[in-house]
Amino acid sequence: MGHQTVWAEASPGGGNMPASILVVDDEVTLRYFLERSLRDQGYETLSAGTVADALDLVYTRQIDCALLDQHLPDGVGFDVLRALKEVDADLPIIVLTGYGSLDSVKTAFRYGVFDYLTKPPDLVELKRLVGQALQSVDMRRAVRRHQAAPSPPSADLVMGRNRTMREIVRLVQRVAVQSTNVLIQGESGTGKDVVANLVHRLSPRAERKFVAINCAAIPDHLLESELFGYEAGAFTGARRQKKGLIEEADKGTLFLDEIGAMRPDLQAKLLRVLESREFRRLGGTTDIRVDVRLVSATNRDLQAAVAAGEFREDLYWRLSVIPIHLPPLRERLEDIDLLIAKFISEFARLFGKEIHGVAPEALQALHSHHWPGNIRELRNVIERAAILCDGPELTTAHLPSDLMTSPPRPQVVGRSDSPQLPPTGLDLKSVVADLELDLIHQALERAGGNQTLAAQLLHISRDELRYRLKKYNKAQSEP
Ligand SMILES: Nc1ncnc2c1ncn2[C@@H]1O[C@H](COP(=O)(O)OP(=O)(O)OP(=O)(O)O)[C@@H](O)[C@H]1O
Ligand SMILES: [Mg+2]
Repeated sequence: MGHQTVWAEASPGGGNMPASILVVDDEVTLRYFLERSLRDQGYETLSAGTVADALDLVYTRQIDCALLDQHLPDGVGFDVLRALKEVDADLPIIVLTGYGSLDSVKTAFRYGVFDYLTKPPDLVELKRLVGQALQSVDMRRAVRRHQAAPSPPSADLVMGRNRTMREIVRLVQRVAVQSTNVLIQGESGTGKDVVANLVHRLSPRAERKFVAINCAAIPDHLLESELFGYEAGAFTGARRQKKGLIEEADKGTLFLDEIGAMRPDLQAKLLRVLESREFRRLGGTTDIRVDVRLVSATNRDLQAAVAAGEFREDLYWRLSVIPIHLPPLRERLEDIDLLIAKFISEFARLFGKEIHGVAPEALQALHSHHWPGNIRELRNVIERAAILCDGPELTTAHLPSDLMTSPPRPQVVGRSDSPQLPPTGLDLKSVVADLELDLIHQALERAGGNQTLAAQLLHISRDELRYRLKKYNKAQSEP
């Protein structure tokens, strides 16, 4: 990519961009037929024969409408449908059905499908349905823009291309249907709340409550009564009976955020609930049965806490039947453009501004930052920039100054010039040495020959820099 401008949300039918239709069917001839018919009508098409290929497109491409077969070699059309709805809840989906069986069609409509088309598809019918579908999405998107309300955080998940992230979402899709406990770990701002929400929304419990509590934000003694509830007279001030959050979450999902902060005796009580599926309110004498799905999260290294004797090992294993480690943003930089575009759309809409992208220099700065606060930090930066921005593009003037001066992330060269391994292979050591020397020279040049500054630019000590220079000088002077 030569031109580094990120554009926010391309409008579907609007503007002069042709709408892009995704066709997912494992029958090659049918796919070909559908694609050709759609292209003849001026649409752009994307196609896939498997769930895996379809998901690749869903997470990386702009899609305005999708035609989905139900039976695919590696899964079912609904796997793709769920992903499509995650990316864009308004996206119209047309299900291709072989038998037109009433049951599957009913299920389809329950999942918010636009319509269905029986196979072999009739061209006139195809044209009509796609036309209507695109009109409907235009309308719904327009309505949304006018509402100018921030969408709930749960609707916000951007998956992107990052392999780890996509594996996580696939894992979530698979385990959501069971009631298995899920433990989400990751640095602050990596999206633990967002993923916890996703687990709930993709589960059969979605219609029941999602009850969340932050264990670190509540004093220990209150946490216990919040979780377990109490009977009248259980303690001074307990005038009447109160249900706890565990009970509130019955048949739904209980999200225990910052579980690492939970006091040991409460850990023991929680373990008992998980093992017996029963608990007592404080001051109560009867056991109450509950059916909760527990999702917990922490930015502490829980295994280390277990090793240090600060967290119960038996509880740890109970919680982490499905462990999820969210990658920090600096390890999923391939998704940063997508996230930026998403946040620009969000805030432009919210503030009623026409912001379409990021100027190349500002984008460069965003790419170079370390993002210790991860996605939350990125979102805040874009929010602030959108407030300050009065033109069509975010520029460096809209970015916080510390972002402009922060040392570049150790990304060696622009993506476009990433070195290619020649067919005959190469001498790794000498290539790396050349690159290193080249970067050292660049750093020295930029630092005006000042070795301390140059070392800072390279994130090494001055001694380390000297040592390397000496090594190369020596190598060069040797025969
Ligand atoms: N994949 C994502 N796509 C879009 N937005 C995201 C994504 N992940 C996180 N965010 C946004 O980033 C912000 C931080 O996410 P979240 O609150 O889930 O992080 P967290 O890991 O729970 O952080 P903490 O450890 O501080 O509780 C939120 O505004 C959320 O909407
Ligand atoms: Mg959180």
